[in-house]
Amino acid sequence: MTHSQPPVPSHAEGSRIAMTEPELRAWGESFGRAATAPLIVTLKGDLGAGKTTLVQAICRGYGVTQPVTSPTFALVHEYASPSTPVYHLDLYRLRSQAELEGLGWDDLVSANALVLIEWPERAGSLLPSGHVPIALEHLPGAEDRRILLAG
Ligand SMILES: Nc1ncnc2c1ncn2[C@@H]1O[C@H](COP(=O)(O)OP(=O)(O)OP(=O)(O)O)[C@@H](O)[C@H]1O
Ligand SMILES: [Mg+2]
Repeated sequence: MTHSQPPVPSHAEGSRIAMTEPELRAWGESFGRAATAPLIVTLKGDLGAGKTTLVQAICRGYGVTQPVTSPTFALVHEYASPSTPVYHLDLYRLRSQAELEGLGWDDLVSANALVLIEWPERAGSLLPSGHVPIALEHLPGAEDRRILLAG
């Protein structure tokens, strides 16, 4: 009997996949290529975990050609793609749920768009169900790798 390789990436440990930055970018690009709107993706993780890096890759795969920068001060950036708009939110500096209403939150999360949300926990109960949850974590002892948890 022959043994085939198990279909698990080489850096996977349990359900956690530790990826280098190029690996994470490649994963994000293929995710972006496969994404169809309307779609909300949430990205959790500590400061510097790689959320914006992954958003940049997803946008690239989705067809965004503009440079994607962190919307930390504006809270939301809009990008064009060949299919639908992309809204990239970073809620780290959100002060209240009322501030979300001022951003046009209800329209953003119901738009025919790809919506990418960093620090989604700040939205509390206003976060719609049905989004794709992604989390990134630092890997102790490995500066160049991050753990990706998706779905
Ligand atoms: N495996 C990796 N995956 C992603 N980023 C990595 C990796 N290894 C190192 N890095 C570096 O870590 C940093 C991640 O920064 P990034 O802005 O993407 O984080 P963030 O989670 O968006 O942080 P913030 O909460 O401040 O918005 C970048 O400087 C990137 O080059
Ligand atoms: Mg960020």
